[in-house]
Amino acid sequence: MRLNLRAIEEHLETEFVGRRIVYLTSTGSTQDVARVEAEAGAPAGTTVVAEEQTAGRGRFGRSWVSPAGKNLYLTLLMRPPLERLRSLSIVAPLAVALAVEEMTGLRPQLKWPNDVLINERKLSGILVESELSGRSVNYALVGIGVNVNFDIEEAPEIAGIATSLKRELGRETARERLLATLLNRFEALYEDAAQDRNVVQQWRSRLGMLGRHVKVTFRDQVEEGLAEDVDSDGNLILVQADSRRILIEGGEVTLRE
Ligand code: BTN
Repeated sequence: MRLNLRAIEEHLETEFVGRRIVYLTSTGSTQDVARVEAEAGAPAGTTVVAEEQTAGRGRFGRSWVSPAGKNLYLTLLMRPPLERLRSLSIVAPLAVALAVEEMTGLRPQLKWPNDVLINERKLSGILVESELSGRSVNYALVGIGVNVNFDIEEAPEIAGIATSLKRELGRETARERLLATLLNRFEALYEDAAQDRNVVQQWRSRLGMLGRHVKVTFRDQVEEGLAEDVDSDGNLILVQADSRRILIEGGEVTLRE
């Protein structure tokens, strides 16, 4: 089934996010299409949506399983000032979690920094790529993949660690309403984050691993310690065995206990 663009528009309550949608039945990666759009001067809020990606990508050079007609694959083109760039990585997963909760009643958790989980399995992943010149942001590409109506068993390589709304609910979810709700939430949270209104707190309250012993892999480094807290920029505060505290900007967390 193809997305009904009119149904998306009907549910949209935003000023600018999703007001211009570039819709593709199939593409390599929506990130690449959005980059071309950005370079050509497309306005902030432009949203590239594809039914299928043939080269969908995740963080750390991984691929993102992107079968046709089942899930959501989108990239939001944003043009934030530098001081708001970090907020995108907080706003995006929170927007997904709130939209899923609003539409299904499920209560997704977040895995630092920006995976969305249900019952410890990954429902959605976020990839933020940005292009800077000096201290100004030319554009940021917020890539969001959500497993919606996918029968996860069809992808044995992720079946053990991923989930979909269909798997959790035992029924299908209207992708149009979910997408519109996600865009609505995203814009509202993005604006709230600029006023410092509680957005980091909402994000923090869903992080399942705070207070747990974790291993964090970032760049070429691996650190272990207690995931004590996050700061207002979204950095992880890790307390090491010798009681030293370090701040980690991004990376991948695995539980040690
Ligand atoms: C991750 O968890 O590693 C991030 C996954 C991001 C996937 C989305 S799907 C839409 C956009 N296009 C891509 O190629 N990747 C992102």
